[in-house]
Amino acid sequence: MADAAHAADPQTDAPQRRAEAVLARMTLEEKAGQLHTVDASGPDPAGRLGPEIASGRIGAVINQVDPQTLRGLQRIAVEESRLGVPLLVSRDVIHGFNTIFPLPIGQACSWNPDLVRDCARAAAGEAAASGVRWTFAPMVDIARDARWGRIAESLGEDPLLASVLGAAMVEGFQGDDLAAPGTLAACVKHFAGYGASEGGRDYDATNIPDNELRNTYLPPFKAALNAGAASIMTSFGDIDGVPATGNGYLLGDILRGEWDFDGVVISDWDSIGQLITHGLSEDMAAAAREAAEAGVDMDMMSSAFIEHLPEMVRAGAVDESRLDAMALRVLTLKAALGLFDDPYGKTHEGAAPTREAARDLARRAARESLVLLKNDAGALPLDFGAIDRLALVGPMADQPYEQMGTWVFDGDETRSVTPLKALQDALGEDRVAFAPALETTRSRDRSGFKAAVEAAGMSDAVLVCLGEEAILSGEAHCRADITLPGAQLELLDALRETGKPVVAIIMAGRPLTLAPVLERVDALIYAWHAGNMAGPALVDVVSGAFNPAAKLPVSFPRSVGQIPIHYNRKNTGRPPVAEQIMHIDDIEVGASQTSFGMSAFHLDDGYTPQFPFGFGLSYTRFDYSDLTLSADEMNRGDTLTASVTVTNAGDREGTEIVQLYIRDPAASLTRPVRELKGFQHIMLKAGERRTVRFDLTERDLAFSGRDRRVRAEAGAFDVWAGGDSTAALHARFVLRD
Ligand code: BGC
Repeated sequence: MADAAHAADPQTDAPQRRAEAVLARMTLEEKAGQLHTVDASGPDPAGRLGPEIASGRIGAVINQVDPQTLRGLQRIAVEESRLGVPLLVSRDVIHGFNTIFPLPIGQACSWNPDLVRDCARAAAGEAAASGVRWTFAPMVDIARDARWGRIAESLGEDPLLASVLGAAMVEGFQGDDLAAPGTLAACVKHFAGYGASEGGRDYDATNIPDNELRNTYLPPFKAALNAGAASIMTSFGDIDGVPATGNGYLLGDILRGEWDFDGVVISDWDSIGQLITHGLSEDMAAAAREAAEAGVDMDMMSSAFIEHLPEMVRAGAVDESRLDAMALRVLTLKAALGLFDDPYGKTHEGAAPTREAARDLARRAARESLVLLKNDAGALPLDFGAIDRLALVGPMADQPYEQMGTWVFDGDETRSVTPLKALQDALGEDRVAFAPALETTRSRDRSGFKAAVEAAGMSDAVLVCLGEEAILSGEAHCRADITLPGAQLELLDALRETGKPVVAIIMAGRPLTLAPVLERVDALIYAWHAGNMAGPALVDVVSGAFNPAAKLPVSFPRSVGQIPIHYNRKNTGRPPVAEQIMHIDDIEVGASQTSFGMSAFHLDDGYTPQFPFGFGLSYTRFDYSDLTLSADEMNRGDTLTASVTVTNAGDREGTEIVQLYIRDPAASLTRPVRELKGFQHIMLKAGERRTVRFDLTERDLAFSGRDRRVRAEAGAFDVWAGGDSTAALHARFVLRD
């Protein structure tokens, strides 16, 4: 029977004091046990893990969500281990638990922190109700490479947008009190630079100079921690020669030192053991020491800590104070989560939102994630009242599982409403002519084309759902070729020939190269994997019941050869001034070496992306005018206001996401050509105009300079405002010292 070392006591009820009281009674093995996270999936976890849990050698479990099984494991920890310390139950709750919301990259298209917070909150409620208390999210890795499968799980390429949305996710998971009903501890990941893997290959090495690290990759982590994230996960990556899981500069100097983070640091899956594979550590004992000394507290799956730390402490190779600090952080988190008082999660039993509430939120989130990228001659919206019949074609039109996307271990596909179902509900079954044409997105068998062409022939317009199945993106699912797979382009050709308007809906976990698609369609909606309610949300947009407002959180490359491409690039000494794209066959043999200017571009793809960061159309049009600044000069400590007038110049109400960018044109380190510094949603009626104001302070102008000090450097600043990162309205001011 467990000793009640942690019984509630008014003297020790602050989480850390409570944790200290438990720690004081622990053996070295029990301390190391708290650091050990094991996989509890598969048959009979209680039989397999029970003895170790009972001996205090396991602190946390992952990948078990069956409430009864979890209760069984917890019972062993609480009743059979010497000190009765409860287990911490973890799971990747990434974009929903049972109810699946759009992929994080889709949610990021909303630029709406309130919505992102709500989705995380709902997911936390569902997960906590089944016994999970710790999620490995948000992932705030800056992602500039569409080949990288995990771009799906990212919040895009921009440090500010990822910071704002990552912080919102943390707030959603954690609420104000980690012990409150329906709450999960967040774990921001993967620290740091994981998204910069060479060639867009998952797990590959990253080489990130300090300037880029501090100014591009780290800010979203800092923002998530400022929002209260209880924990952080290391990256699998080798960063500048030192794998992140053994990287004392990242974990010690920056995270613990400069940022003063005192929460839990966990390794990624076996990433302590992988220090050997990377070539950093000689053996498991060395890996354990290196990870612990670098600043890792918990070991996910490698067993290095439990197997080696107690012995190393006894041998004097690792200080006991280090082991104490590691275990204390884990125990403090457990105490803060209320686990000592309520190990079986009674508090959370009724915490899940109702199915209806979760479904409505999933529909709202999906609508806000759909980006309208092309709409020629007002092809959309379709007037459902006037239409006799619509053709619905394509391998993604009726895929309840695939539309959920990657990282949906607990996703309930029976909650999915596909585009087919939603369209039939909206129009009636006999007004929808459905023909998938291809079995999967990768099929090359064209035998279904005939039926699709017939369906198109008898309809007023064609909706064609194309893309990639969920399995083509996500962890370890990177692609070197990011074109539409299979015979999907040929399908578009066949549909085109019918002469009917063709609306493409692309459901994918990454930006695909779209040029050949765009040529063949009248309108294009980028839907990502929009989750359970993808279908109704698409119908809302296609029918005009919802006017799309989403904007891209990543630049879309024209071709894979342009990668990495991002809006916040450097100017270079030879910036291109005008876009110039050539067919290399047209280049004369023997032409002068300098014939095409001498600037930073590709002959055959220019330098601009297919679609810029921040881009997204609406069914109405927004005009921008009169960008003015409240002053031409700003002193440190002042607030400068940039105002811009936005007019809804179209004929229907719509929401615009107004964006503000700056550039510091001369600084101790070269700065990006543009940086997002603010964004606001405004809803305008047809013909309505409004002035939108952005306040800029010294903080918005600051960056980590050549001396690594974060400060604004005096001098001129450019400002632009508009509807995407190519915004043309410009103003300038000077920051005085
Ligand atoms: C991933 C992490 C994830 C962990 C646990 C790893 O492979 O990189 O993001 O949290 O597995 O599932």
